[in-house]
Amino acid sequence: MYRNGTRYNIEQSQTQGVLLFMGMSSKKPTILITAGTRPEAVKVAPLIRLLREQGWARVRVLATAQHRELLDQVFEFFEIKPDIDLNIMQPEQSLPDLTGRLVPAIDRVLSEEQPDIVLAQGDTTTVMATALACFYRQIPFGHVEAGLRTGRKYYPFPEEVNRVLVSRLGDLHFAPTMRSRDNLLREGTHESAVVVTGNTVIDALLWAIERDLPKTFEPVDGRKMILVTAHRRENFGAPLESICAALCDLVESRDVEVVYPVHPNPKVVETVEKHLKDKPRIRLVSPLDYAEFVAAMKASYLILTDSGGVQEEAPSLGKPVLVLRDETERPEGVEAGTACIVGPNRERIIEKAVELIDHADAYDRVARACNPYGDGKASTRIADVIQAFLVKGSIGA
Ligand code: UD1
Ligand code: UDP
Repeated sequence: MYRNGTRYNIEQSQTQGVLLFMGMSSKKPTILITAGTRPEAVKVAPLIRLLREQGWARVRVLATAQHRELLDQVFEFFEIKPDIDLNIMQPEQSLPDLTGRLVPAIDRVLSEEQPDIVLAQGDTTTVMATALACFYRQIPFGHVEAGLRTGRKYYPFPEEVNRVLVSRLGDLHFAPTMRSRDNLLREGTHESAVVVTGNTVIDALLWAIERDLPKTFEPVDGRKMILVTAHRRENFGAPLESICAALCDLVESRDVEVVYPVHPNPKVVETVEKHLKDKPRIRLVSPLDYAEFVAAMKASYLILTDSGGVQEEAPSLGKPVLVLRDETERPEGVEAGTACIVGPNRERIIEKAVELIDHADAYDRVARACNPYGDGKASTRIADVIQAFLVKGSIGA
């Protein structure tokens, strides 16, 4: 296989997991990094910045713009200007339509850019479509945040199956934790293709907290602030209504205020506005840019969320998280004591939130637990592996 004048001989077998790179050229290799949604942009941003700083590769950024405003907010904050933008988002896009438009659009970019490797993070439709498009062109694909699993096909939907597919399609797997590595090995991914790196979200968070964060969400009158986000498809409808009911109960029974940046998905906006609009001590706000959101997390007492990224970030700021889902692919936080699964269940949310609001000792235990998701050096480890793979010809040390 020839690309950019460089000869590759990549023998890859899922059973043997052999990754063999031959034939170097003095030309800089091209790395294409894709991102479509807010969390992907947050998690690839430190890697893009680092690779550009290092300068040994030509780094190209493809925004599919599966999200529009949410993606732009993040890239702007991290001072990244995508080189290519597919502007794919449509209001209330469906999964089949999105997938159907993404794969050929990404394929055209691959044809034009001729990357030596493509990287993407996570489990969205953008990531699945990118991995598939790379497979069709036999371009190596590196998966950042590989190996997360609930083991349940529809939880979360469609992300769990996206992850499984991407693991089958990918060539390099950057697992954030030992557990995610073990998940991959159990499924037959060869250990030589898996590297434990930590999660790049911690790199992003540490970068953000070194900047001047806005003071918008400092607690008012010493009141404890509960920060809420929810957007998962499994929570649309009745589960989200039950979460809203729990928030109303909490502001009525305790001296707390709720700050809720509402995800722009119309299915979320509709339910949240119906149940929480104009309720005293509940502030519904537009999605916050990353600096504002990090500031809000810092200012909060407690976080209620069904977000993946927020579960990973909160422990670095010493904030307990109640996970508004019945399953999490991030059990490390639960085991470390930083997160508690309460589901979208009104009674369990109230019970656990009240325990943390009323009992300082219970709160302190959670707030002191350490972050199992990373140390802020994940991007460096990933960059080293990619360099070894592309320039030195192996991914070993
Ligand atoms: C997507 C991902 C999910 C990820 C989440 C992060 C899939 C299938 N889902 O879910 O894994 O956790 O992003 O937030 O890939 N919208 C806007 N502006 C935006 C973004 C979204 O208006 O900037 C609205 C649009 O009407 C859009 C809808 O939200 O059609 C849904 O967006 P989509 O990316 O399909 O799904 P999310 O629920 O955001
Ligand atoms: N986030 C943000 N503004 C907000 C809400 C979240 O910048 O108003 C950040 C958050 O810090 C985390 C990421 O967005 O890094 C999580 O994205 P989201 O919850 O949309 O997706 P998930 O992680 O669940 O896939």
